[in-house]
Amino acid sequence: MTACFVATDTTGQIAGFYTLASSSINLSDLPEENAKKLPRYPSVPAVRMGRLAVDERFKGLGLGGAMLADALARILSAEIAAYALVVDAKDEAAVAFYRHHGMMAFASSPKTLFLPMAVAHGLVG
Ligand SMILES: CC(C)(COP(=O)(O)OP(=O)(O)OC[C@H]1O[C@@H](n2cnc3c(N)ncnc32)[C@H](O)[C@@H]1OP(=O)(O)O)[C@@H](O)C(=O)NCCC(=O)NCCS
Repeated sequence: MTACFVATDTTGQIAGFYTLASSSINLSDLPEENAKKLPRYPSVPAVRMGRLAVDERFKGLGLGGAMLADALARILSAEIAAYALVVDAKDEAAVAFYRHHGMMAFASSPKTLFLPMAVAHGLVG
């Protein structure tokens, strides 16, 4: 149950894609510094990026970063609120990619990372 966004080259071949779906974050999973600024509900709304991938031919050209920025811009311009973007990294290289872009891992789940939209607004907005 996701929306899939696809980047194509000039011939229509798939260069990369990502998916977004609605999600939530348990307040107890957030660092205290983040949680203390939020209402005392058990969870806060979020958007989950389940998959992000770039075709081998297009790796290292900025497409992965551009698609991450595209996802953040979509969430920022949506009329439904989300506290953060959440991603599921498939391996340590993916964790490093997301950390490089300022995302933070959950202590309880090191391959799941998040970026508060308030921070994203400063980067993309
Ligand atoms: C991870 C992936 C999406 C990156 O896409 P990409 O188009 O090659 O990355 P970009 O060229 O946009 O890189 C953007 C920035 O991230 C950095 N970066 C790329 N891969 C990185 C990694 N594994 N670790 C740390 N930084 C990384 C680049 O150096 C670049 O830095 P800069 O903007 O400061 O110059 C791509 O390698 C991929 O499809 N991997 C397989 C699937 C995957 O792991 N997806 C992750 C989610 S599960």
